[in-house]
Amino acid sequence: MLRNPPGAIRLPDPLAGNELLSLMARRRTNRQAGAPTITVRQLADCLFAGLGLTGETRNCVGSLPLGMTPSGGARNPYEAYVVARAVEGLDPGVYHYSALDHDLGRVAANHLPNLSELVGGQEWADDMPCLILLCARLERTMWKYDDANAYRVVLIEAGHIGQNIMLAATSHGLSACPTAALCHSPIKRLLGLDRVTDAPVYALTLSVPEMDGASRTIN
Ligand SMILES: Cc1cc2nc3c(=O)[nH]c(=O)nc-3n(C[C@H](O)[C@H](O)[C@H](O)COP(=O)(O)O)c2cc1C
Repeated sequence: MLRNPPGAIRLPDPLAGNELLSLMARRRTNRQAGAPTITVRQLADCLFAGLGLTGETRNCVGSLPLGMTPSGGARNPYEAYVVARAVEGLDPGVYHYSALDHDLGRVAANHLPNLSELVGGQEWADDMPCLILLCARLERTMWKYDDANAYRVVLIEAGHIGQNIMLAATSHGLSACPTAALCHSPIKRLLGLDRVTDAPVYALTLSVPEMDGASRTIN
């Protein structure tokens, strides 16, 4: 990060009395679970923060949902899936989050994989209570934008969604660890995604952070 030369204008203290910025400043990636479980309420709030719906708009074809994060052309390309190992109030399993109904539907997976098998072999993930997988339906965004633009738009939106999930996690005293190291084929097989038009893009584990063990490995 670059410093300005002498004479730069000092700005007001950003954290003084600002609850939102103070919450944002507490967000931290932590790869060591300080408790074996999280609650379904905590998971639900993180999903809502990332993908929840709060409005509606129209285009030439019909109505489009508006959510907690902006979406290019309101095309909302992302679907979220949850691999739940240890979420109080939820049986271990694989679930799809429907933002339309704010509910979780079971995905018919024939086994519950170790989380590391989905995130590039990162072993710390195996102790995490759950993993949220953000998968893009590319054709939704490509309906409006041509391919290079659609690609950019879809990737940008993963960041918006991920950040909101992380901030909701922080507000619950959790850490959401983002990862882009995804094992595409195992994820697609697990979730029954299309080989060409569905793309796993980003994932986040959720856990109570282990305060002593801050950040074990930086990838
Ligand atoms: C796009 C993206 C991909 C990341 N992928 C990984 C990853 O695969 N494994 C991991 O342990 N951390 C991953 N991280 C987390 C970063 O290592 C972490 O954000 C960074 O060390 C800064 O720490 P902080 O989040 O506590 O500020 C990723 C972060 C981003 C934004």
